[in-house]
Amino acid sequence: MTSSNSNFDIPPRLNSQDFQLDPYPVLRWLRHENPVYIDPESGVYWITRYQDVVDCFNKPQIFSSRIMHDSHSVVFGPSLTAMDGEEHTMKRNIVAPEFVGKRLEAFLPVIEQNAHDLIEKFTENAASNLIKNFSSNREVDLVDAFTARLPVAVIVEMLDLPRTDLPFFEECYSTLIRGLAPLPQLREAGIQINLRFHDYLDPIVRERYSAPKEDLISKLCMAEVDGERLEIEEIKAFTSLLLVAGGETTDKAIANLWWLLLNHPDQFDAVQKNYDLIDHAFTEMMRHSDPVGGEPREVHQSVEMHNVIIPEGAIVHLSMRSGNHDEVIFSDPDEFNIFRNDLYFGKEMRVGFHDGNKASHLGFGLGKHFCVGYQMARAEAVIGTRLLLETLKNIRIKSGKNPVMGTAEIMRSIPTLEVEYDRR
Ligand code: HEM
Repeated sequence: MTSSNSNFDIPPRLNSQDFQLDPYPVLRWLRHENPVYIDPESGVYWITRYQDVVDCFNKPQIFSSRIMHDSHSVVFGPSLTAMDGEEHTMKRNIVAPEFVGKRLEAFLPVIEQNAHDLIEKFTENAASNLIKNFSSNREVDLVDAFTARLPVAVIVEMLDLPRTDLPFFEECYSTLIRGLAPLPQLREAGIQINLRFHDYLDPIVRERYSAPKEDLISKLCMAEVDGERLEIEEIKAFTSLLLVAGGETTDKAIANLWWLLLNHPDQFDAVQKNYDLIDHAFTEMMRHSDPVGGEPREVHQSVEMHNVIIPEGAIVHLSMRSGNHDEVIFSDPDEFNIFRNDLYFGKEMRVGFHDGNKASHLGFGLGKHFCVGYQMARAEAVIGTRLLLETLKNIRIKSGKNPVMGTAEIMRSIPTLEVEYDRR
């Protein structure tokens, strides 16, 4: 059956490739016609209006994160993302301060150095290829050479793990994230690689427990809240979570930012003339094409929304992607526009921002589980983009190679971004 005013099947298939490629017409229909929609395939309740998504994130006692236990905690070990209430607050207070403010500032040169090294590496490769074959252009797949590598390299530095083992960490993080999918083979592979990763970490964590250094693992070993210290197993589980939460997300975010800019030449031009706009572009990317898109919650107390009763035990999907495209909040929501005046471009806040004229994006979630690494992700994207612009000029998508958004294997992103450039 096809609806008269839309070009998708009714009921829409929220698990389909078509939806991944272009979710916006379906999400618009849900916001207008079914703001609390029970997906017949999964039984999950989709919440799609901006204000409803915000309200649900802000009621963690009703919309619980325990649902993450079945994925995150099974694969990583005890996971912050699956905790509620006091336990969550206490554990989060141990780890979160490392990722913001002065402690993050001290780390910015490390991000800069890593971004610089990656760019140097691919430009040097291009230069030597040019010498070997002078007809070839300078070209690179920005996803493979840069966006997929920077976040893991940065986390590895933060944890002070040997850089020489980067290929192992890259294998760990991609297998771990696939392990979160509810497919038995992938789940098993995720559990197995996590065991290998934890075996690898075990002597390192034990050594830093007794002789701490300046790195994040040592800080987690030493941290105390209300006289409690993290167990060794918890530190290892948090390290696994970091690889996934900070790796894949930031990789996709930088890739989406570049894809959007390269496909909007006027705005790309403006950014190249004024690097301060990179920050704006990042915020608008997080609204327009946020890679995560939605978070699940488990309902711990029956609630009624828009005349639908969501029973205790139900699973809801809080669609940040739909909230970010809610036309009640953002005008022309499907347009990428780094100059829009209805988006809040200030620092992200756990409670969000919405004053009637301006609203924050929802790409980092909201409330108790609001992204711990939001400043770090922004720093990586902004510093990385600035260095790319400072080093390369005339960057353009390779002819015939514009990737299709929504075709990446994981999250809503692109699998490759093949560009050509000239060296400054
Ligand atoms: C643009 C990149 C990123 C995006 C889109 C993103 C997105 C998110 C979202 C949506 C949540 C909320 C999960 C929920 O409510 O259940 C979250 C939580 C989290 N993020 Fe990020 N994230 C990014 C980068 C990072 C980075 C760089 C780190 C750290 C290195 C990080 C670490 C975490 C952690 C530890 C949590 C769990 C917080 C908690 O449960 O209290 N993220 N992230």
